[in-house]
Order: sequence, then structure tokens, then C-alpha cells
Amino acid sequence: MKNPSFLELEHISKHYGIPHKSSYVPILKDISLRVETGDAIAIVGPSGSGKSTLLNLIGTLDRPSTGSIFFDDRNLSELKERELAKVRNQDIGFVFQQHHLLPQCTVLENVLIPTLAEAAAKQENNVHERAVQLLEYVGLKERMDARPGQLSGGECQRTAVVRALINRPKLLLADEPTGSLDHASAENLIQLLVDLNKEQDITLIMVTHALHLAQRMKKQFELLDGKLHPHNE
Ligand SMILES: Nc1ncnc2c1ncn2[C@@H]1O[C@H](COP(=O)(O)OP(=O)(O)O)[C@@H](O)[C@H]1O
Ligand SMILES: [Mg+2]
Repeated sequence: MKNPSFLELEHISKHYGIPHKSSYVPILKDISLRVETGDAIAIVGPSGSGKSTLLNLIGTLDRPSTGSIFFDDRNLSELKERELAKVRNQDIGFVFQQHHLLPQCTVLENVLIPTLAEAAAKQENNVHERAVQLLEYVGLKERMDARPGQLSGGECQRTAVVRALINRPKLLLADEPTGSLDHASAENLIQLLVDLNKEQDITLIMVTHALHLAQRMKKQFELLDGKLHPHNE
């Protein structure tokens, strides 16, 4: 028995079939990666290089064509769809380029949505209190009754971060989280992610195409031609 990391990708590949042809397009080729608890990892790479594809595999939104992903002592390839959905809801938080908040709900209601899922096994008694505490942490306690339309882009994205954290995930995945923000809001959001990683020990994997933002993470990798390379200055 080997000693598994918190998250381990072993020889992952991903290809997509071409409709009406027997050939396929390789996107990810033989990627291996070890992630330890408390890591803060940035993945950079050109548009179309497969960054979102890779993050979706880690986030159990998709399955690799070959290779295995071990997460928290489980081999994800061996899990059924139902079990994967539970991992996704309970153990992984997602932040995307668009905040995807529900416009008709308040900030507080939006961040409570992930707690409504039936399998909320580790749901705490006072999830409302946790939501308010997290909103205070990101500087939005005063705005918790506002609706997304009344917030700035940066505030919406900070709300999305709180929503991603509400179920106490072990891993936070962020796919170009600053992609629709202005420079100042982007800096602010990255600082929040760095603080969360340091102060709350949240393991973080962030995809970005901005090198200066990637450098704020502890480790950097570059995805190029389907391969993941350590990115050293
Ligand atoms: N479901 C899919 N079917 C076919 N091709 C896809 C699919 N998803 C992504 N691709 C292709 O895979 C490549 C990588 O996409 P993506 O992971 O979104 O790149 P990035 O996030 O680095 O911009 C692109 O060429 C894209 O068109
Ligand atoms: Mg992408």
C-alpha cells in the first residue's frame, strides 16, 4: 500500500471523440500531480490548453479517459455517479469565471443554497450563523440582504466564494475566478483566496491565465500541449 496524498492524479489523459469519425482529439496527456493538504496551486496555460478540462476532472464533473484520481483516500474512478455527486457537494467547492448567483435570491440565500442538498450529512446545526460569519470574513455582512444585481462584480464573486465554502469543502477549485473582474477587484479576490488558504487551511487549485496572479499561489504549473509542467521562474 502506498501512502496516498490528499489528492493524486496518476497518468491522467482525456480525449474527446470527433463526431462521425473513429478518431479523437487528445486534450490531456499522461498528467500526474500530487496535491497535499494546505497546498495552493496555480495552473496557467494558453486558452484551449485544457485547464478547465483538468479542473473538471479533479472536481468530479467529468471522468478521465485513462488514469486514476485519488481524493481523500478514495479512487474516484471506482465511485458511482451518486457517490461522486456527494463528494462534489460535500468535499469540493467551486468558483467559476461567472458567479452564477441566482438573481432573485439575496446574498444570504445564495450562499445557503448548497446546504439544501439532501445528502448534507455533515451539515452543522447553525449553518445560518456560519454563512453570516463567512460573509463577514469577506466583507459582505452588511450586504447580505442585497440581491446580486445590487452588487459589484467583485462583491458577487466574493459571494460565490462564500457559497463554495459553506459546506466546509476540503478542496476549493477556482476556474479563472478573476476573469470578469477589473484589476483592483481581481487583486482583492486573490488576496481573499490567499487568506483563506493560509488562515483557514483551505486547499486551493486555481486556474488563471494571469501569471502575476498565479505567482501569489505557493506552487505554479503550466499546461502546455496536454502536459503539466512545474512552472519555475
Ligand atoms: N465536451 C467537449 N467536447 C469536445 N471538445 C471539448 C469539450 N470540452 C472542451 N473541449 C476542447 O478541449 C480543449 C480544451 O478546452 P478547455 O479545457 O476549456 O481549455 P482552457 O480552459 O484551457 O481554455 C479545447 O480545444 C476545447 O474545444
Ligand atoms: Mg477554461
